[in-house]
Amino acid sequence: MDFKLNDEQEMIRQTARDFAQEHLAPHAAERDEKQFFPKEVIKQMGELGFMGMMVGEKWGGFASDTISYVQVIIELAKADASAAVIASVNNSLVCFNIEKYGTDAQKEKYLKPLASGQALGAYSLSEAVSGSDAAGLICYAENKGDHYLVNGTKLWVTNGHHSDYVVCFIRTDKSNKTKGISAFIVDKAFPGFKVGKKENKLGIRASDTTELVFENCKVPKENLLGQEGMGFKIAMETLDGGRIGIAAQAIGIAEAALDEAVKYTKAREQFGQPIAKFQANEFKIADMAMRIDASKLLLYRACWLKDQGQKFGKEAAMAKLFASETAMWATTEAVQMHGGYGYTKEYPVERFMRDAKITEIYEGTSEIQRIVIARNVLNW
Ligand code: CAA
Repeated sequence: MDFKLNDEQEMIRQTARDFAQEHLAPHAAERDEKQFFPKEVIKQMGELGFMGMMVGEKWGGFASDTISYVQVIIELAKADASAAVIASVNNSLVCFNIEKYGTDAQKEKYLKPLASGQALGAYSLSEAVSGSDAAGLICYAENKGDHYLVNGTKLWVTNGHHSDYVVCFIRTDKSNKTKGISAFIVDKAFPGFKVGKKENKLGIRASDTTELVFENCKVPKENLLGQEGMGFKIAMETLDGGRIGIAAQAIGIAEAALDEAVKYTKAREQFGQPIAKFQANEFKIADMAMRIDASKLLLYRACWLKDQGQKFGKEAAMAKLFASETAMWATTEAVQMHGGYGYTKEYPVERFMRDAKITEIYEGTSEIQRIVIARNVLNW
């Protein structure tokens, strides 16, 4: 067992840290306020290989391991949680399943630009009627021979507006709940496709989250990803990896909160001494550091299993659950330690607290993670 990053992983982490602190951190608060999507910075992230970290070089990716990938997401999230989720979705939820299930023609056409950062991807599973019960989706694709005719509305799509291609999960058989779903690569230029309402969110406001609307949209047969009826399995398998990305995002947010809490409590004096000297705050700092470390250990185990080609769904769910609850708790405590200042936009901790909340919700709520873990433990 080795708890140390190797030289390459360390170099990737340092590159990501330098980039994020130089290009993301300075305007993160402004982008949050204005809900401004960091298009130019995302392009630069693509040039550095951050948008297709684990994709093979043949398909335009960086061919890294999962441990290196999470270093990048953690560092991005420390500077700007929105940029982290934009990258995480493209890497874990889009590139992954096209590389695994796509044909060579699909990889040439879609994966190469997505992995190299020339295009951006989105993943669309949820609908108004199907969130946690993902297999309850009703958006329908009618098989018309050489194409599918798609009708329906998808919801909560990260990168919904700014993406070029969307991996969409759509019903192709109304008589079978989980095996009646298929995955499609949808080019947003297809006639009959449009982006619907953009959500005005509590946090990760610089990322865009939208509805997607299909009105008699013709999706060519060659855009089916995997076999017809395999969509739910692809969606679930993809989310196992996605949860690794969200755990990393949550850890980055929590680390940023800890850094700010340390800085502030050492500088702020009350009753004649820095407030870091009060045991109430020392204990909070100790617990934050411990929970962040524990989150990382859970995360690294899930990454390691994934890289070994072993099952990692339960471990990814544990990492996501623990890291997201840590992020929510740590950011709330960071606000508390800042007192009244923490409640204002003068300090970044209120943004961290708002950003942390979504990590307990998307890519499976904390309750869903507990279901995944319990089913594995109970062998149900
Ligand atoms: N990998 C591969 N296959 C899997 C799987 C996995 N992780 N999990 C389930 N399956 C398979 C099962 O083996 C089963 O296959 P068989 O029928 O052949 O046996 C099939 O899928 C159905 O499985 P379940 O009976 O377990 O399905 P379920 O309906 O009970 O649902 C669930 C299980 C875990 C609750 C699932 O619905 C779930 O994860 N829900 C949460 C959805 C979610 O995370 N949504 C987030 C959307 S993405 C997002 O957040 C937006 C964004 O842009 C960031």
